[in-house]
Amino acid sequence: MKILVLGSTGMLGSECKDALGQDHEIITPDKKELDIISWDGVIENLQEVLPDVVLNCAGFTDVDACETEDFKVRKINVEGPRNLAQCSARFECKFVHVSSDYVFDGQKPLPQPYFEDDAPNPLSAYGKSKMESEKAVRENAPNYIIIRTAWLYGIHGNNFIKSIVKQAAKKKPKVLKVADDQFGSPTWAHRLALQTKELLRHDGKGTYHATSEGYCSRFECAEFIIKKLGLKARVEPCSMKDFHGAAKRPGNCLLENRLLKKQGISVMPDWKEDLDTFLKKFGEELIKEAKEKKN
Ligand SMILES: NC(=O)c1ccc[n+]([C@@H]2O[C@H](COP(=O)([O-])OP(=O)(O)OC[C@H]3O[C@@H](n4cnc5c(N)ncnc54)[C@H](OP(=O)(O)O)[C@@H]3O)[C@@H](O)[C@H]2O)c1
Repeated sequence: MKILVLGSTGMLGSECKDALGQDHEIITPDKKELDIISWDGVIENLQEVLPDVVLNCAGFTDVDACETEDFKVRKINVEGPRNLAQCSARFECKFVHVSSDYVFDGQKPLPQPYFEDDAPNPLSAYGKSKMESEKAVRENAPNYIIIRTAWLYGIHGNNFIKSIVKQAAKKKPKVLKVADDQFGSPTWAHRLALQTKELLRHDGKGTYHATSEGYCSRFECAEFIIKKLGLKARVEPCSMKDFHGAAKRPGNCLLENRLLKKQGISVMPDWKEDLDTFLKKFGEELIKEAKEKKN
């Protein structure tokens, strides 16, 4: 297949570029070459490339900045996906869009997860923009996949896992304060890229949840990392209210991969298994990077 990947310089997009590139022809324009907020740019690009699949990993993902940057969040997270959905429909391409656990309010009591057909009720501007992006996709692209995921990490870009390793590995590690009241499933972007490939292989359609199995709090996740890497830092629990910025975040971010499992196409392992592999592969590199930086 010929696949156009948007956001290929980002955390998930770069993994999709690698994973899909092994079996497919992929085209990966950067933001300068194709800005998804430009209708003319999108239509011209699709007309020229004529892909079988358009995969949108682009987005404005700074959850706190989204609270104040209304114009930017609407343009990138809603109008961009709408442009891509409409143009995909025009050229009869499949459109794959990535959405988020933040479309939900996180009020379900643990360990109840959110299912694909639960009603969204976002708490933040970012979550609202992702909810609206989903609506734009459903209304405009007849052949779509929406992949809702959560708590992504990977070697590219900034993420919670990298930030914990780096803080804990500093020459003079401090006590790390980490929220023990937000729960989710840390999900390796590389694994999600493989899951995306599997969805395309099976010609998936509709809205899918795709996160690692099992769950933990941010605090438990930080303790897991520090123990696995044998670091000397100490973790202290705090509330996400003390810790985070402008945006309100859901406490329960658990997504059940119900449709993937029903269709027998889930490749998602337990979060501990993948995080262990990730740390074995990249832990030393991240520790070295942290130690080289001045404290
Ligand atoms: N990270 C998570 O934990 C998480 C959780 C749930 C869902 N998601 C969703 O997963 C998707 C990928 O997230 P990520 O963490 O990989 O994002 P990311 O690392 O922030 O990357 C975003 C990408 O989008 C590109 N981009 C931004 N504005 C653009 C525009 N106007 N036109 C074209 N490209 C543009 C960026 O390019 P530049 O680098 O050049 O700006 C970058 O390549 C997003 O839809 C996000 O909402 C992420």
